Amino acid sequence: MDAYRKFALFLKGLIYETKNGFAIASRSFDNNDVDVDVTGQVFMISGANSGIGYSTARSIALKGGEVHMICRNPERAQKAKDSIVNETKNSKIHIHIVDLSRVNDVLKFADDFTKNHTRLDVLINNAGEMIQEFRLSEVENFEMNFATNVVGPAALTFGLIPLLKASNNNPRVVIVTSAGMLLQKLNKNYFDKVEKDFDGLLAYAQCKRQMTVLGDCWAAEHPEIHFSSMHPGWVDTPAARRGLGDFIVKMEDKFRNSDEGADTVTWLALSPVALTYPSGSYFQDRCVVTKHLFLANTKETKQERTDFYQFMTQTVASCKIDETTKV
Ligand SMILES: NC(=O)c1ccc[n+]([C@@H]2O[C@H](COP(=O)([O-])OP(=O)(O)OC[C@H]3O[C@@H](n4cnc5c(N)ncnc54)[C@H](OP(=O)(O)O)[C@@H]3O)[C@@H](O)[C@H]2O)c1
Repeated sequence: MDAYRKFALFLKGLIYETKNGFAIASRSFDNNDVDVDVTGQVFMISGANSGIGYSTARSIALKGGEVHMICRNPERAQKAKDSIVNETKNSKIHIHIVDLSRVNDVLKFADDFTKNHTRLDVLINNAGEMIQEFRLSEVENFEMNFATNVVGPAALTFGLIPLLKASNNNPRVVIVTSAGMLLQKLNKNYFDKVEKDFDGLLAYAQCKRQMTVLGDCWAAEHPEIHFSSMHPGWVDTPAARRGLGDFIVKMEDKFRNSDEGADTVTWLALSPVALTYPSGSYFQDRCVVTKHLFLANTKETKQERTDFYQFMTQTVASCKIDETTKV
């Protein structure tokens, strides 16, 4: 089954996820969709210093939005912020240094942000990457793909949902997942014994499946917020170069640039049209697409979804360190 899924995913990628796939899809885009002024609205984007996150942050800044950039590296964050401010002349761009793999820090950040800000309209969970070697996160000892791509973003989202709900401007959460998820069926126990025969691609794919399912669960649990997940296509970025190795070197000319990869993220974050689709949908190139490959046996049951949501709620809660009892 693994070989079939990889082959089907590769074929799908060659047709739809390349630069050419974007050129074809974009012929039916309506640019009026994103012809909006979002002055006064507040956006948060993780991984906003690079690639898809940077392009999204710049596009939103160009439309007048206040942008909170979540980045882990202060120098890279400052460089990206300076570049966005210089280009867009929008001074409402803010940096927050948060490493998503340190989950207690993420919860603390979300808590502080909620205490110190009155408004958040759109959260974009973009940061992430495929980590090819097995290692554990420093604080909570989660496998590193799981910490970075699932537990950290989940903690950020759980933590900010109350503030998002307070927005009276159709709050949204956009989750950048990946078509890589098509390789995996949801498995809440996947990371229990993952060290044996570790496969970075499959670990990453499981993470992206988990985030997409979380998006569905949040959509059901919080109808006041519009949730969407999406795949950006094959995009030439630092994370793709680290994660995909030889594949990207051989296929370089077929990869999209970051603006092309960010197009649907920006559309989901800004466009009134995006809100007309059901919350919990999964998109590629501004269209709702299937969450499963044909005959790939990846569909989870309702019970598996419920169990996973409960598991994630508990996992995130277990990362909260009670500062008052700390010695
Ligand atoms: N490129 C593709 O072909 C492709 C395909 C499908 C999905 N995606 C998804 O697209 C999203 C954006 O990636 P990209 O391709 O644009 O790569 P990128 O340019 O390398 O951006 C990734 C961003 O995530 C940040 N990040 C990574 N780990 C983090 C952590 N622990 N804490 C905080 N920030 C962290 C990175 O920060 P640093 O600058 O500090 O590293 C960077 O800002 C990811 O979720 C990725 O899985 C990409």
